[in-house]
Amino acid sequence: MQNVGVIQRYREYLPALRDESIITLHEGSTPLIRAKRLEKYLNANAAIYLKYEGLNPTGSFKDRGMTMAISKAVDEGAKAVICASTGNTAASATAYAARAGLRCYVLVPKGNIAMGKLAQSMMHGAQVLQIDGLFDEALEIVRKITEEQKITLVNSVNPYRIEGQKSAAFEICDELKYAPDFHALPVGNAGNISAYWKGYREYFSTDKIKALPKMIGFQAEGSAPIVKNRQIDNPKTIATAIKIGNPASWRMAVAARDESGGLIEAVTDDEILHAYQLLASLEGVFCEPASAASVAGVLKLNKRKFFSNSSTIVCTLTGHGLKDPERAIESSDKPISVPADLTKILDAMGL
Ligand code: F0G
Repeated sequence: MQNVGVIQRYREYLPALRDESIITLHEGSTPLIRAKRLEKYLNANAAIYLKYEGLNPTGSFKDRGMTMAISKAVDEGAKAVICASTGNTAASATAYAARAGLRCYVLVPKGNIAMGKLAQSMMHGAQVLQIDGLFDEALEIVRKITEEQKITLVNSVNPYRIEGQKSAAFEICDELKYAPDFHALPVGNAGNISAYWKGYREYFSTDKIKALPKMIGFQAEGSAPIVKNRQIDNPKTIATAIKIGNPASWRMAVAARDESGGLIEAVTDDEILHAYQLLASLEGVFCEPASAASVAGVLKLNKRKFFSNSSTIVCTLTGHGLKDPERAIESSDKPISVPADLTKILDAMGL
């Protein structure tokens, strides 16, 4: 069956759009992968699923929201769009804007964006502006620009982004035929946890599911404003995607946490990198470091016997591992150099 994209698949749950305005790269319908080796490793009597959002067209969950935001911009006659980004929003915005024939500007924090994401933004013909500053400053600047200029803001403060992103929750319920007991996510600017919660609530109120999940979000320890309940002026983490000190959707994320009876906690960079490597080596699933925060959080909670027996846990893996090849190479054993000689190769293989 052809993947028609998020808007066509869930149109009845989304704001109205004219057919000719729809800009899609056939995003969504990503795999929900049962992680049996991870379950065994955790010694958990729970079913763990990975929602592998790295398989969206630009390699992250952002495409779900971007198809909506860009289509709406087209519908409203916009000529240009802009966003601030730690990389993935930029990669997605530039791709969808290219497809729509819109001008696109992206502001990224210089030196704090993974190479793959920068390459994507540059390829799609957008104007890429690297600022000597943080994501939070970039977001403040693009908000000011769009107050004064006729340019559409496509960060997740644009409500259509959240509308599109909630489709991931629908897909999970459609596939499992129920909502999981727990839904684990990395939290950065806090749009995605808010979007999933909105999706689950809408399915609940239309009787598609009989119970709601507990939303469990994870921030990086050095970059955990929601956990610490204060803005972080100098956020630090190797997970550059979630290196954010003042999330735009802070209040919505706290509401998702509290209404669902969930939690938002911090995980260290070491815990993130451990989960990142485990996913690749145990499950064959390569995600970017920030994405692994969801699994790092589940590992941490599991140690304290947080999950009851036979729980279903879904972890969203927000972006593909190829986004950040430098981190992957740094985190792995180096390849062995050998001459092109059979005996020497067998010897190096230990055979
Ligand atoms: N994981 C990845 C891979 C991300 O790129 C982001 C956010 C998040 C998790 C957190 O999601 O912001 O909705 O809480 N990236 C944004 C960007 C900030 O600019 O690409 P969130």
